[in-house]
Parts: sequence; structure tokens; C-alpha cells
Amino acid sequence: MPIWIGERLVLLFPHEDPSSAYGRPYLIIDPGGKFGTGTHPTTRICLSILEGILREEQSVLDIGTGTGILAIYAATRAAKEVVAIDQDFEACKVCRQNIMKNGLDQKVCLINGRVEALSDRRLFDIVVANLEANTLTVVLPALGARARPDGLIVISGVPAVAQSEFLSLLEKASLKVVSSVILDQWAGFLLGT
Ligand SMILES: C[S@@+](CC[C@H](N)C(=O)[O-])C[C@H]1O[C@@H](n2cnc3c(N)ncnc32)[C@H](O)[C@@H]1O
Repeated sequence: MPIWIGERLVLLFPHEDPSSAYGRPYLIIDPGGKFGTGTHPTTRICLSILEGILREEQSVLDIGTGTGILAIYAATRAAKEVVAIDQDFEACKVCRQNIMKNGLDQKVCLINGRVEALSDRRLFDIVVANLEANTLTVVLPALGARARPDGLIVISGVPAVAQSEFLSLLEKASLKVVSSVILDQWAGFLLGT
């Protein structure tokens, strides 16, 4: 069953017929047993926030890329350059295949590693991270450090019940909440530095 991402883009699994996208642009994502099919609310929160902020000429860092869905979406929709990183070697293998299937190997650079080890000499217009809340808490400083001074950060993975607790962590990390989204008991945020 094709999954609509906003009004413009359709997500297909590899076995699905491209005609089921009804002529709309589509992404092909093979889950390969990894997180990032596009159905989870936290992924959808990130996709919906990205849809509103992505512009041409931007650079995007996707932290915890899984299948690569957010990186591939950013590269297909607008971004000039995307770096995707995941600590899970198997997820990177799946992601690499998905990057190739979508013809984005010139635009998406994939790194197998932890975000904390990524150099902060390279800054991005948009940093997106859909991670478990515990991990987000630990990597918050690394997220802020990798966004340009006027950059935006998109995060999701926080249970809605833990939202207020998480808001105080964001304040401590000097990250400003631009907007928030709640979907099916999950929270996501658009942040400014
Ligand atoms: C919830 S999945 C998100 C997948 C995809 N981005 C999505 O939105 O559907 C989180 C991913 O983050 C990766 N991850 C967790 N901690 C990480 C870290 N410190 N650095 C890099 N990747 C990490 C995991 O291996 C996992 O693939």
C-alpha cells in the first residue's frame, strides 16, 4: 500500500508498482528489517516538519538514519547535500541500498558511526534526528553543535507524556522551540539554535 508523504510525494516499497504513485514523484524504501518504513508516528512527525522547512541549496544532517528515509526525502524534495549517519552497520547497508535505488548516491553521503564522533567543523542548515528519548537527551549538545548559527533542528522520539520534562532539557541546552507536533502520543519539535 503506497504511503503518502504530505501531498506531493509517495513512498513505495520495492515490490510495489510505480503506477500506484499515480504519476506523483515517489521514493523507494526497502525496510530491510530496520527502522524507517515511514509508518511510525515519529518518522511522520519529522517528515511533516521537514516538508515545511526544506529549501533548495540547503545542507541536511540526518542523525540515526535507519533505512535512510529522512535523508532520502530531504535529498529528493530539495536539499543540495545530505549527510546521513547511523551507528548500526546493518542499518547502513540497508540505507546504502535505498540511496542507490533512489539514484541519490551523488547527493547523500552515508557515514557508519555515532553522531558524537562526527566532526563539528562542518555545520548544516538543517539537523534532523528521530531517536529514542534517552539517546536524544545524551546527544542534544551534539545536535546543537552541528547546526549553523541560523540553522534549524528537527527532533522526534519523545513520548508525549514526557514532553514537559524534555522541554526543560531543551532550555538547558539553549535550544529554542520554534514549534511542536504531537502525533499518536509522540512529540516532535522544530528547534532553533
Ligand atoms: C528510531 S530509528 C530512526 C530511523 C529513521 N531516521 C526514521 O526516522 O524512521 C533511530 C536510529 O538511530 C540510530 N542511532 C541511535 N543512536 C545513535 C547515535 N548516537 N549515533 C548515530 N546513530 C544512532 C539507531 O541505530 C537507529 O537506526
